[in-house]
Amino acid sequence: MIITIDGPAAAGKGTLANFLSEKYQLAYFDTGMVYRAVGLEMILSQSDLQDENKALSFAKRLTFPRMIELSKNPDFRSTIGGHAASVVAAITSVRESLLKMQQDFSKSPVFADGTKANGAVYDGRDTGTVICPNADVKLFITASSEVRAMRRYKEFAQKANNTKTYEEVLADVIDRDKRDSERESAPLKPADDAVLFDTSNLNIEEVIKTASKIIDSKK
Ligand code: DC
Repeated sequence: MIITIDGPAAAGKGTLANFLSEKYQLAYFDTGMVYRAVGLEMILSQSDLQDENKALSFAKRLTFPRMIELSKNPDFRSTIGGHAASVVAAITSVRESLLKMQQDFSKSPVFADGTKANGAVYDGRDTGTVICPNADVKLFITASSEVRAMRRYKEFAQKANNTKTYEEVLADVIDRDKRDSERESAPLKPADDAVLFDTSNLNIEEVIKTASKIIDSKK
């Protein structure tokens, strides 16, 4: 079984994907990681984020082990890393180059320890539209930019070295939404056959319950 969960930053995709992958014993592919990895390569090599040739050469060379290694860098999950990911993700050739790696995972999904899984949960922006157009279940999770910024702000506030104000986090969320949904290639949008959730006024338990019902009806 393949499940895709798309939606804007901080909508709750990761929490839902983690829960579903455990509940249904599916491998989990957080596809934002491929763009975060290329974005971080660009930062580490002090490249201009818009340099297509550089970004493409990092995308072509990206492997799963390198992505895991890069994910240990504190900037991988930071606002800086998210911004860099969003910029390189808007380059069409970079997206094309990273497509196969993402699609191949659905053919032989594996858990983090390398053991085989019977399916996968994907999370990202285009997993239901481009990466896995034939997925069994497609979910699209969203929430207002203010609600998403507040969630991110609370996450950052728990970190010792946090200096971000709510307004800065909100500006970042709006900036990323704009770039992710206005780019030419695979812009953020729900697949025609996706089930939409607005989690602004829903708690995660309610989302999990509804998603589980949809998945169970497909089994
Ligand atoms: O989900 P995330 O915040 O880790 O994603 C980081 C960036 O990567 C996001 O702003 C846009 C890009 N992305 C994408 O274009 N397509 C995906 N399937 C996943 C992420």
